[in-house]
Amino acid sequence: MGAEATSLKEAAAIVSAEIDNQFDTLLAVPGDPRANLYRAMRHAAIGGGKRLRPLLVSATAQIFGVDKTCIARTGTAIECIHVYSLIHDDLPAMDDDDMRRGKPTVHRAFDEATAILAGDCLHAMAFEILADEATHPDPFVRIDLTGELARASGPSGMAGGQMMDLEAEKSSFDLPTVTRLQAMKTGALIACSVEMGAILGRVSPEGRTGLRGYARDVGLAFQIADDILDAEGDEELAGKKLRKDGDAGKETFLSLLGLERAREQAHMLVDQAIAHLRSYGAEADLLRAIARYTLERDR
Ligand code: IPE
Ligand code: IPE
Ligand code: MG
Ligand code: MG
Ligand code: MG
Repeated sequence: MGAEATSLKEAAAIVSAEIDNQFDTLLAVPGDPRANLYRAMRHAAIGGGKRLRPLLVSATAQIFGVDKTCIARTGTAIECIHVYSLIHDDLPAMDDDDMRRGKPTVHRAFDEATAILAGDCLHAMAFEILADEATHPDPFVRIDLTGELARASGPSGMAGGQMMDLEAEKSSFDLPTVTRLQAMKTGALIACSVEMGAILGRVSPEGRTGLRGYARDVGLAFQIADDILDAEGDEELAGKKLRKDGDAGKETFLSLLGLERAREQAHMLVDQAIAHLRSYGAEADLLRAIARYTLERDR
């Protein structure tokens, strides 16, 4: 393994352990009738996933020397939104999936009502975390983080993209429409992770141009990789059912571009993402390594 892969692996392991730790404290199971709700959230949130979004918060914020607790809590907030989005994405009304992160999906392990409520709770908890003084002493920073995450999660972000994604099974979308869909469905939370890192780092909005360009390109490359994995990945490694997009007749980057061009496009996006970081030195190497990883990943 090269030095870059080793340090990415180490950074990812540290972030994953920290996020598990935060969720473990946050989701202590109460001795009352809500116990199964907490068990369901723990099932979905602890011990799984690549933790890409918290890793992006951390890799960005560490450039600017941000306090570790602020980084960990902000990373947990965005992972709450991501996990909620996965729980709901897997529901019978959406993708109707049985496996996620190598385990039964929440509605399978528990039931549908519990899965819906577990998602609702994680959604609310994300904002509760950001509103808490422990996340950042400056209320203006907390408001900025809250606004960013709300925008990235809602109708102009992830949830809006999920709606378009459902439509993509019924309509034939052109490339600009699929690009917009993916930029919302997946790209918004990825972009938000980098943006929140920059907010914590008190980078002025004008100073965020390079980071924003990076995040936009990584988000698209990441979703192209997800589409490629869906077509040719290993279900065991991915921990979820694959070959779903083609079977559903869903318009994706792959259906529009074909495998070869989709791969080329993803490589081009990763090169472009790294080029956006040209004003940073070695302090942004982790962000560069994350960009490359989006293509090499097998899960
Ligand atoms: C899966 O996200 C859903 C998409 C937005 C493509 P990830 O691939 O980041 O899933 P985990 O968190 O590693 O399970
Ligand atoms: C889900 O996209 C994206 C969100 C949950 C926002 P997919 O449906 O392609 O994700 P997987 O393949 O089930 O992880
Ligand atoms: Mg889906
Ligand atoms: Mg799905
Ligand atoms: Mg997918």
